[in-house]
Amino acid sequence: MGIFINENNLEFHLQNDKISYILKVDSATKEIQSVYFGSRIHHRDSYADLSEKTERPSTTSPTRGDHRNSMEFLRREYPDFGHGDFRTASYEIITNKAHTLSGMKYERYECFKGRDMVFGVPHIRIGNEDKAETLIIHLYDSFLQIRMKLFYLLLEDYSAIVRKVSFENLAKDPVKTSKLMSFSIDLPSASYDLMFLKGAWSRERHIERIPLHKGVQSIGSTRGSSSHTFNPFVALLDKRTTEHQGEVYGFSLLYSGNFLALAEVDNFDVTRVMMGIHPQGFSWNLKEGEIFYTPEAVLVYSNDGLNGLSQEYHKIIERHIIHEKYRNDVRPVLINNWEATYFNFDEETILAIAREASNLGFDLLVLDDGWFGRRNDDKTSLSEWTPNYDKLPNGISGISKKVTDLGIQFGLWFEPEMVSDDTRLYNENPDFVLGHSHYPKSHGRNQFVLDFSNEAVVNEIFERMKRILNDSSVSYVKWDMNRSITEAYSQSLSEEHQGEFYHRYILGVYKLYEMLTDEFPHILFESCAGGGGRFDLGLLYYAPQTWTSDDTDAWERVKIQYGTSMIYPIKSMGSHVSAVPNHQVGRNTSLKMRHDTAIFGTYGYELDITTLSDEEKIEVRNNIEFFKTYQNLIHHGKFYRLLSPFDGEAASYMVISECQSKALVYYSHGLQVPNAPLSNLKLRGLDPAKKYHIHGAKSSHHGDELMNLGVLFTESYFEKDFIDNFLKPGDFKSLILEITEIK
Ligand code: GLA
Repeated sequence: MGIFINENNLEFHLQNDKISYILKVDSATKEIQSVYFGSRIHHRDSYADLSEKTERPSTTSPTRGDHRNSMEFLRREYPDFGHGDFRTASYEIITNKAHTLSGMKYERYECFKGRDMVFGVPHIRIGNEDKAETLIIHLYDSFLQIRMKLFYLLLEDYSAIVRKVSFENLAKDPVKTSKLMSFSIDLPSASYDLMFLKGAWSRERHIERIPLHKGVQSIGSTRGSSSHTFNPFVALLDKRTTEHQGEVYGFSLLYSGNFLALAEVDNFDVTRVMMGIHPQGFSWNLKEGEIFYTPEAVLVYSNDGLNGLSQEYHKIIERHIIHEKYRNDVRPVLINNWEATYFNFDEETILAIAREASNLGFDLLVLDDGWFGRRNDDKTSLSEWTPNYDKLPNGISGISKKVTDLGIQFGLWFEPEMVSDDTRLYNENPDFVLGHSHYPKSHGRNQFVLDFSNEAVVNEIFERMKRILNDSSVSYVKWDMNRSITEAYSQSLSEEHQGEFYHRYILGVYKLYEMLTDEFPHILFESCAGGGGRFDLGLLYYAPQTWTSDDTDAWERVKIQYGTSMIYPIKSMGSHVSAVPNHQVGRNTSLKMRHDTAIFGTYGYELDITTLSDEEKIEVRNNIEFFKTYQNLIHHGKFYRLLSPFDGEAASYMVISECQSKALVYYSHGLQVPNAPLSNLKLRGLDPAKKYHIHGAKSSHHGDELMNLGVLFTESYFEKDFIDNFLKPGDFKSLILEITEIK
């Protein structure tokens, strides 16, 4: 691994065993150009012959008489607007010297082992043993006295490049940027499909794949959070790319706020991709000497299809984004009271659930919304983080002690960023609430947003949460966020700084996460936003698991988890078994299917276990035991998607251990197909030469057979018991195949 630099031509080649990423300084214009990103290629002393300069009529050029230097078609690494590139610009600066014109020219480079220091924002963590190298390209506009730096981080073991940009004002006069993307890259083809994860509340991260067309196509969020609607991740796929083979580029942002991801195909079939903070409503002022850093973006290349891409992302997230202490930990199997009781509980109701939970083998009881203030519905008390003594006469300290005395841990729900309008905080500190006095504040779920761009607000909420957490034995916190941001006007910011609000808000969220995780290092955080409305790399940096969706129906969850797995690891997905008929879609599915689906996640339950029949209780106890037997494999194995629920009525995926000796395969379907054709499920990732036993199958099979010929769901293949239990026709059915190597 290393960064090769051809000093004469100022060409930079970031190379490891998997990928090469090449950029260069154009000698005529001092612009930075994209040369290559893809599978590793040999280094050469010069890439001058790869120049795509050509005489094109009807273009403009900064070099008189030589149209080969036109910005209109050169592949650029961080393009501006105003000098002949009519495509989307990656940044915009507003000065009182040249309005939006600027001319950033190459100044110098820096290259060093490891990475730059970062504080207060999520970033790629590099440990002492990790091999990593950083390249920083300095660009400078000597007239405006503005410096920009393009950061490139190369890691040894991954087919990834991490990028970000800094913007520094060295002039006496203040300047403003109204757009500053985290990266931009121009790829030399338009023959791609664009893939992204779309959704809404209760149906997050469904997969969409569409062919790129000429012009701009984009996704993003302006809701103040990364959102249910689109996830901060896009991919460009070769048209022939499948789950298992072919080229794909992934782009994702380590960020939880407003974002924009954009692809633009130009008139010469170059595809420009960029991603960063959404420019809508954004601006940032810099006085002399001030610097702004964009969020980091992770660019991954895979030649092994979408599974290859996901496996890279999963590893990077597990090893370089989630805190090290959660890398090999065993996550608690939890019972959450939300769908069991909603707001209607008292200490005894919760203790009854806790006693049953302790009998059945749960590790953690989570007390969800409704434990504080006068919170008996969703109209009241947010920000009053003191116990509701009518429901909990012994407070949180009392109930948490009683729960932990039963041998299980205790967890608590908060919604730190929100306030109800019947609280003292709302009425006595109106400046703590987001909005403008002249305009009505839109409400969402009867609640209002606290101004987290104001440090005093963050400190106040920290103190309130700290008091209750210090006073009780809490080992898990679910941090919720249940509405989008509107009337984004902060009373703590001057008029000219209002455009900084959204970003400062998210920095406030990160600040509170830092304060809480520093103060309570033993507490496991699960993030949540009306289900999965803030499932992103930024929050995974602080909270290693995220509530994937409020939709707990097994078949809906298969789709949501399938889409989520495109980038996020199985161990990060909060997944629960809930009651039937399902509270979101009214569907009935078996306890088995709900369990089979939930084990591919953190695993927990969200129903009233005290009302289960004796048989169901036995099933739940066995389910938990089953999960614990396979927890290590599920959470640390290599994950492969096999059949997409977006392509038909069936879904399948699997995990396999690193040494390829154990695998667990999930298969389910929605509506039963009558007189269904025979099918063979082809597995992945096994050792072709090893022999495997599938629990319930009549014979053993070599890995090559299971991967190329597949598993047949027929009477001749499986034992009668297996057929009777799992393969009888019916709607919404699932099965798990347990596979072990025969030595
Ligand atoms: C959100 C969460 C749920 C639950 C409720 C409580 O909707 O996603 O899991 O915590 O809030 O009000």
